[in-house]
Amino acid sequence: MNIGWSSGIPLSELKSDVLILILSESEVKGEGFSPDWDGTLRRLGELGLFEGKLHQTYILPSVNPSAFPVTILAGRGGQELRTDDLRLMSASIARAAVKLKAESLVVQLPSEMNIITVEKDTVTTAHVLTEGLLLGSYVRKHYKREQPPYAVISSAVFYMKEQLEAAEGERWTKGIEKGQAFGEATLLARNLTNIPGNLLVPADLAVAAVEIADKYGFPVEVLDEREIGQKGMGGLLAVGKGSVNPPRMIVIRYQGTGHWANVIGLIGKGITFDTGGVSLKRAPGMEDMISDMGGAAAVLGVMEALGRLHPRINVVMVIPSAENMLSANAFKPGDVITSLSGRTIEILNTDAEGRVVLADALTYAREWGAERIIDIATLTGAVRSALGDVATGAVTNDEAFLQELTAASRKTGENLWPLPAYPEFKNMLKSEVADIRNAAGGSGAAITAGLFIGTFAEEMPWIHLDIAGTAFLSKERGVNPKGATGVMVRTLLEWLLSQAV
Ligand code: BES
Ligand code: MN
Ligand code: ZN
Repeated sequence: MNIGWSSGIPLSELKSDVLILILSESEVKGEGFSPDWDGTLRRLGELGLFEGKLHQTYILPSVNPSAFPVTILAGRGGQELRTDDLRLMSASIARAAVKLKAESLVVQLPSEMNIITVEKDTVTTAHVLTEGLLLGSYVRKHYKREQPPYAVISSAVFYMKEQLEAAEGERWTKGIEKGQAFGEATLLARNLTNIPGNLLVPADLAVAAVEIADKYGFPVEVLDEREIGQKGMGGLLAVGKGSVNPPRMIVIRYQGTGHWANVIGLIGKGITFDTGGVSLKRAPGMEDMISDMGGAAAVLGVMEALGRLHPRINVVMVIPSAENMLSANAFKPGDVITSLSGRTIEILNTDAEGRVVLADALTYAREWGAERIIDIATLTGAVRSALGDVATGAVTNDEAFLQELTAASRKTGENLWPLPAYPEFKNMLKSEVADIRNAAGGSGAAITAGLFIGTFAEEMPWIHLDIAGTAFLSKERGVNPKGATGVMVRTLLEWLLSQAV
């Protein structure tokens, strides 16, 4: 989507499929929005059709149909807007525009947009308005034979009547750029996650990664099953060997400073489909397991945004990718495997496969120089029992590190909540025959799963994000659609940008 701003010219000089007017409750009651609209607005309010409530939208034919055939009225309530409100307002506007199959939008903003926001920061305002448009405009790709006319929003202009000062204009440009990077990165993650399992196997995920890397000239490495075996990545090899679609270890590096130092490791679980393997899952809902590479999609989205924003940081992204299948060749409960770290793992449940592939990825990220690590994974059903689809669960060995990430999540509106990592939980992972076992059995499964991964962080500061509840929704909520959400792309980016030197 092409997004820009315009100010200081008459609205009549612009043209688009839809004009969006942002209105407060008092303006709808007829307190002088504009002579063209006042009567209509008062009537809509009286009829209870549109009252200007926050996130309310109303579609109607324009008073000046030659420039703008359709108008969307968007409510902004009566109070000052928080960034979360602003983002969702923008997403609601985009959803209304998608319903109309509009391709181009002009969004008329109240003069001095900042006065009606809590933060009063132009860059943030421009950022979240832009991001909201992108998040709300998302439509899942479909595979129907008869494609209905499939319009996507291709351009949007934020229009302000009063001429902006140069410095203020630069802030708008900067905010739009950032919002666009955050938004597009999230859409990329959603698109990858929503691809059916037969159309995205580990080799396909690797192709998607190489595409992103090549676009920005990032060094990329893809290990195939032979190299995975040769290097001693016993975890990824074991999980992948039950499938005819072999595993891949995918690495992309982003170097934003002169020296490859202070490297941040970003690791995403890339199980392209999770049947559970020999410890087979039950059938109802298994189709949602196409989203078991949601963590991988998130870190790929982040890399795409780094390519656009090029901050002064260093990142190594690692994706262990496999398809967890059952077959004559599949790994089994009771197997003991040797991970890249040299630690042996007793397999108790082949459905606890994510932590097994992530173990090798953490060790590998360290080999590539990572000094701090964040892993993101659709790891446990248990995190859904604890936090529903409302918050992402976090496990860490470094409270201060997690506080930084939580601060970032407050800005992006993505809920993040810590799970307590008491040593009792770690003891539940002891094995008699190996260094560790892959399933603890019993309660606290989201925590024991996290702590299993944490073992492979060695002494590095580490955060684990369990997005099993938040990566894939059963119905639309807030800025997120049904299906893949691209959750945590924006939070990770917000934190990464805060680390720039
Ligand atoms: N991919 C699943 C977790 C999951 C569940 C993601 C629901 C999204 C929605 C993971 O590999 C898994 O199967 N975890 C098991 C672990 C158990 C066997 C210890 C679980 O949570 O049931
Ligand atoms: Mn599983
Ligand atoms: Zn899984």
